[in-house]
Amino acid sequence: MSHQKIDIFDTSLRDGEQVPGCKLNTEQKLIIARELDELGVDVIEAGFPVSSPGDFNSVVGISKIVKSAAVCGLSRAVRNDIKVAAEALTYARKPRIHTGIGTSDSHIKYKFKSNREEILVRAFDAVSYAKTFVEDVEFYAEDAGRTDNAYLAKVCEVAIKAGATVLNIPDTTGYCLPSEYGAKIKYLKDNVKDIDKATISCHCHNDLGLATANSIEAIINGAGQVECTINGIGERAGNTALEEVVMILKQHPYLDCDTNINTKRLFHMSQLITKHMGISPQPNKAIVGANAFAHSSGIHQDGVIKRRDTYEIIDPADVGVTESAIVLTARSGRAALAYKAKNAGYDLTKLQLDEVYLNFLNFADKCKDVNDSDIHQIVETSKVYREI
Ligand code: KIV
Ligand code: ZN
Repeated sequence: MSHQKIDIFDTSLRDGEQVPGCKLNTEQKLIIARELDELGVDVIEAGFPVSSPGDFNSVVGISKIVKSAAVCGLSRAVRNDIKVAAEALTYARKPRIHTGIGTSDSHIKYKFKSNREEILVRAFDAVSYAKTFVEDVEFYAEDAGRTDNAYLAKVCEVAIKAGATVLNIPDTTGYCLPSEYGAKIKYLKDNVKDIDKATISCHCHNDLGLATANSIEAIINGAGQVECTINGIGERAGNTALEEVVMILKQHPYLDCDTNINTKRLFHMSQLITKHMGISPQPNKAIVGANAFAHSSGIHQDGVIKRRDTYEIIDPADVGVTESAIVLTARSGRAALAYKAKNAGYDLTKLQLDEVYLNFLNFADKCKDVNDSDIHQIVETSKVYREI
């Protein structure tokens, strides 16, 4: 595989906003869009314009303010949706219409009460119609994860013939295994006529906790765009987390892929989404969780104090986190206590540390963690400290 620039398509404002109870107003969406543009994403999916007047207005507003990224509006394979999306994108410097239809047998039979041939016709019509408004048209094959590969290849061929510039292959239900999803992308690369006329995009959901792994496997097998959200927000178990994909590509240079993302802004971006959506990532969330760079066990703390990369594969500064945290708990050792005590102004001798450490353990056993004011109290009340 030769060196590849991977496009980052952020859908925090569309798929991500589908988290129950986390709807954003237009003003909030504009703030977030501006920051996504600063972060360096290639595409901002700004909304689903036909879904409500509020969403339409948000897409109009975002189109006006975004400077670098393409701005994308979602639509079903329905002419009126497409027309409304095109209207909402009028002011975008780089407009993209994202249109598509369900392609799995279950979607075709139960959702559309249709058949495979008719879906091909609708796909062709949707892309051709979207092309009358904008040059950049992305086609999604909803539930591609559970769509038979041979039929999916036919759908992709039809979309390319109609002028699609990007083919989105969503694992809508988060069902695929990484090997399966990677093989699907490779199958399309190997079997779709004129596949090089379009970029393959992966769009993974996290129902089985595999969204990031599946996205990476898709990249390895030829996907050139990743659809993702900040903090992995999204309906049900969420979408692929932008910060995870970006840092995996950065930390594994042998994959020979890069992105435009300014990784130093990742933590800030995560906090912005947390603030506006009102939900925090879980503390152990990779890259941006509160504990992602916190060390609490004695063995790890000793290693990190001696040399950070003993237990950290990412320099926290690379994602905008000021420094790693040494958290004192009853599992912490002397090295961590000496380190934290020194930061609090106490340069303890070995003798002092021995006693202070015993007092510390008695204290720590009774609480979750030990903060700076607890350290003052423990040191000041230790007999040996007072005597020296
Ligand atoms: O998950 C999905 O299939 C989607 C499409 C609408 C792109 O979000
Ligand atoms: Zn989705």
